[in-house]
This record gives sequence, structure tokens and C-alpha cells, in this order.
Amino acid sequence: MAKQKTTYQCNACGSLFGKWAGCCPECQEWNTIEEAVASEYTTLSTKNKGGYAGSKAEMKLISQVEIDNLPRIPTGLSELDRVLGGGLVRGSVVLLGGDPGVGKSTALLQVSCNIKNAKTLYVTGEESLQQIAMRAKRLDLPSQDLMMLAETQVENICAIAIKEKPQVMVIDSIQTMQVSGVSSAPGGVSQVRESAAHLTRFAKQTGISIFLVGHVTKSGGLAGPRVLEHIIDVVCYFEGNNDSRYRIMRAIKNRYGAVNELGVFAMTEKGLKEVKNPSAIFLTRLKDMAGSAVMVIWEGSRPLLIEVQALVDTSYSDHPRRLTLGLDQNRLSMLLAVLHRHGGVASYDKDVFVNVVGGVKVMETAADLALALAILSSLNDNPLPDDMVIFGEIGLAGEIRPVPNGQARLQEAVKHGFKQAIVPTANAPKNGIQGMKIHGVERLSQALTIVQ
Ligand code: TYD
Ligand code: MG
Repeated sequence: MAKQKTTYQCNACGSLFGKWAGCCPECQEWNTIEEAVASEYTTLSTKNKGGYAGSKAEMKLISQVEIDNLPRIPTGLSELDRVLGGGLVRGSVVLLGGDPGVGKSTALLQVSCNIKNAKTLYVTGEESLQQIAMRAKRLDLPSQDLMMLAETQVENICAIAIKEKPQVMVIDSIQTMQVSGVSSAPGGVSQVRESAAHLTRFAKQTGISIFLVGHVTKSGGLAGPRVLEHIIDVVCYFEGNNDSRYRIMRAIKNRYGAVNELGVFAMTEKGLKEVKNPSAIFLTRLKDMAGSAVMVIWEGSRPLLIEVQALVDTSYSDHPRRLTLGLDQNRLSMLLAVLHRHGGVASYDKDVFVNVVGGVKVMETAADLALALAILSSLNDNPLPDDMVIFGEIGLAGEIRPVPNGQARLQEAVKHGFKQAIVPTANAPKNGIQGMKIHGVERLSQALTIVQ
């Protein structure tokens, strides 16, 4: 229970004092100080802010720290639970970043309405309450118990939250929030950072879990969520390209679970729908296309079958172009060098473009071999077999290195009707896999001869 004690607060700058004064020592305004009832929380948040963890300076042995074994709160979207590492932790702060229009507000409105046994407060600084109510109605969400608040002053939000005692709070968005005492405009770096720090301390002290929405702008002019990453417990990014209805949610920092766990959603006219078995959603291929290869990548704890496309064309410039979408550009340059040196495939006078279909970003080196064979296929205008999957890392000596979870990747490919695979020898199961011809390769040259 918060302690009640009398303090005095300046109604111009929000500073708190132990005694009354005619002129505010902080903002120098006259006659602005009034008596205020402050909770332990607000007093703590004046000068000595108590760090991001929000507790008072007091040394404890790690063995003395009580760990509450509270179950995690299921958010009602199991793909989001997966990204969070098994549900929402009490008192945690989760930042959901993403481009405008990707569906952050929709996702969190659905969570707010569907979350079970937890009172939720949805705070909006962007849309009117009416807009949100209309959206909830249109999406047929069970919204009757959802508390809503249109407010941008962080102190007021916290005061209302103390009164209403929600277990979960959504702040949409952190760029519209402001704390008093910071002179910059909402959206500015210091305002965003201070608001987030204030809310983080509040979450730790009260045990309320907070979702923060953060916009990432392409120009980078606005304070992006990147300035917040060290303050916050979980940082998720919501990605997706405009022409695809699929949205991918990925944790890039998670204090409570594994990172790079992927949640897949589809944006429909009834809001976001989870894609429970996403392994092959990005595979809609035409037959006999040169320059296209299917790879099996590993995302978080599951395999995804993804098509990579390459286009190799004569270059009319002194500096041939190497362009990648969804892959690392330096990795492409390296692979082209290895292809030349160890595979005899020259592309120094060619433009090379590669693209991962579906707007997926692939960080795994397991994509190397598929990419190399897609490039070769485009160069020779020779399509790869339709029923072939490829994965494996390529080393600088032209060796093919094994990747984790080889067998599980192959099994996923078999499930989707693939009948051949080119994989690192060490990833080829000894007893084979029924229904699939597996070519184990140790060197790039071996892989090239299989497809030529
Ligand atoms: P929104 O959640 O407002 O995006 P953000 O908060 O990330 O800026 O989602 C906006 C887009 O989602 C909008 O362009 C239309 C689309 N959308 C649908 O396709 N179906 C729906 O049911 C909803 C609510 C939105
Ligand atoms: Mg929004």
C-alpha cells in the first residue's frame, strides 16, 4: 500500500517539495505551489529518481531477493506470447516499434480486449476515444471492460493508473507523451526518453505491465525507439511490407526469454489474425523460374520455407550493382567472390540483385548456399528443380558448413512436398529421410555440379 503524506507540488512544472514556498525553486513561477497528496511513488520520482529499476538504494544479497513466481499473463494472441517468451511478465515494459500503419495500435487494441483476467487501461495520445471504440466495435472485440484514456501527460496517466489499478497498460504512442520539467516538444529525444524512463519506474514500482508503442520513421528525424532500448525489458519490432498482408513480430531484446523468436500475423479486414503454422506462407511459386531457390531458414524455434530470388544481368557501368532486399549486402559480395574463386562463376561485369520473397529479413548464414545457387541459376538461365530445397553456410575456402537443426529443417520441407535437398554433409541424416533425396555436399563445387 502506498504511503500517504502531504507534499507540495508546483502546478506549472510538476515539481514536488516538502514545504510550501511562494516562488517555485524549479521553474521560478510565483504562486503555483499547492498542497498535494503524494504516494510513495510520486515522492520518489522527484529529484532522486531511484534508477530505472525504480527501487530505493539499498544493498541486498541476491539470495535475499524475493522472486515472485507469478504466472505470466497470456495476452490472448499466442504469437505475441511466443515473442514475449511465454506471456507478459508482471511489471515489465514492452516496446512495440514499427513503421506507421503496420498495425501496432490494432494489435494492442486486440490484446487489451482479449487479455484474460487482467484489467487493462488503453491510453491514447494519437486517436480519439471514439475512433478506438469504433475500431473495437468493427473488429467485434469483447471491449466492454476496457478502460480508455486520452491523455499525453505521463504524470496524469500514472496518477489515474494508481487510482484505477489496471494490471496492464497500453501507451499509444511514446512519441506523443510528455513529462513536465522537460522543455523539448513531445517526440523529441529527451521527451521520449524521459517519458519512457518515468513509465518504466512506474511499472517496476506498481507491478503494472506496460506496452509502449513506438514509431520508427524512415527519415530518422523523429526520436526513434532506438534511444529507449536500454531502458526497456522487451523490444519488439513489427515488420511487414505494404503490399503483403503478412506481418512479422520479432523480439530484438528480451530480458525474459529468447530473442529472434518470430510471431507471424495476417492483417485482415477483421484485424490481425495469427498464422499458427507459418512455415510455408511465403511460398507461392511459379514453375520453372530461373534465379529462384527455396531455402529453409530457422527463426526462433521453428523452420520457415522461404524463396530467394536472384537476377544477374549484364552491367553497363564501371561499378556493377550489388543490391539485396532482406539479406546482408556484404554477405552477397563475399558470396560472389567465393563463387568466382572456388566455383569458377564470374560476375564482375554483371549487376546482381537478390530479394527474399515476402518481405522477410534473413539474418542466418544458412541462406548462403541457396543464394549462391539462385545466382548461378539466373546467370545460366537454368531453373532449379521445383521440388528442391537448399540450405547451408558457405565458408571463404569454398567449404559448405553445417547449420543447426538440419534434420528438423529437412522434415519441414518433406511435409510441404519437397523431394530433393542440397545440404551440408554433416546435416544429412545417416538413415536418410523417407520421400526425399538428400545430396550432402562438402564443397561449393560439388553443389554446383549437382544443379548444372
Ligand atoms: P494501425 O493499427 O492503425 O497502425 P499503427 O498503429 O501501426 O500506425 O493499422 C493501420 C492499418 O491497418 C491501416 O492502414 C489499415 C489496416 N487495417 C486493416 O487492414 N484491417 C483492420 O481491421 C484494421 C483495424 C486495420
Ligand atoms: Mg497507431
